[in-house]
Amino acid sequence: MNLNKIKNKRIVFFTGAGMSAESGVPTYRGSGGIWNSYKWQEYACQRAFDSNPEHVLDFHQLRRIEALKCKPHVGHDIITQIQNYTNNSWIVTQNIDGMHQRAKSKNIIELHGSLWELRCEKEMKIFTDAKKPEYAIRLCECGTILRPNIVWFEDSLDQNILNNTYEIVSNCDFFISIGTSGVVFPAAGIPKLAKSNGALCIEINPENTSMSSYYDINIRKSATEGLKDFVEELSKNEK
Ligand code: APR
Repeated sequence: MNLNKIKNKRIVFFTGAGMSAESGVPTYRGSGGIWNSYKWQEYACQRAFDSNPEHVLDFHQLRRIEALKCKPHVGHDIITQIQNYTNNSWIVTQNIDGMHQRAKSKNIIELHGSLWELRCEKEMKIFTDAKKPEYAIRLCECGTILRPNIVWFEDSLDQNILNNTYEIVSNCDFFISIGTSGVVFPAAGIPKLAKSNGALCIEINPENTSMSSYYDINIRKSATEGLKDFVEELSKNEK
């Protein structure tokens, strides 16, 4: 890969569950999607946690066990390599599985939080708990049951994270969306922001999505194959 021309360009990779699908992590919607087997109302909202915290923690522990059985794939590595060629590229991910970190990518914004963090709502403390798939702790020293530091249904996104994301996306040259259905807001509105600020917007997804029309280029391929096409296009433009 020789991508000198993009060295000073800002690239934003905007990733969703389809980015991790080739690693074996299930998506949320579509065939095999998590929300086809589990009702989010019972596992992924504050009300569910308040009524049965252990049940919700067990569900997330299962997600951790499943995620650790999987490894980053070639597509994750391509993103890391592109990042190493550029001074200013970012990953804005809706994924909570930590796969980009395991692929040694940098500048990662986790819009929906992380499976590997827990939060004490009383003390407003965040604990990293990433050594083992099973939770090492479920209780804060103050006695409060820790909740996964994840943005669940009916939660608001962290405003500072969102503002930072908007600033980065508004000033990007390339916006590459990979593997998101584009149905969950406010994340789903981010491609529109990139487009309205003049970025070249590319969607990599084997399927059409509700946001497809906002993109300049639609690559109807899997994450890895689509990223290979993207790199090939960039390399062609260099010649
Ligand atoms: N490569 C690229 N895209 C793929 C692949 C693949 N190999 N396999 C599936 N996809 C695409 C699907 O076509 C679909 O459009 O990935 C998308 C996955 O969509 P969702 O399951 O809805 O995942 P996502 O968009 O990340 O969901 C957003 O919903 O439940 C919440 O908080 C959760 O962050 C999540 C949010």
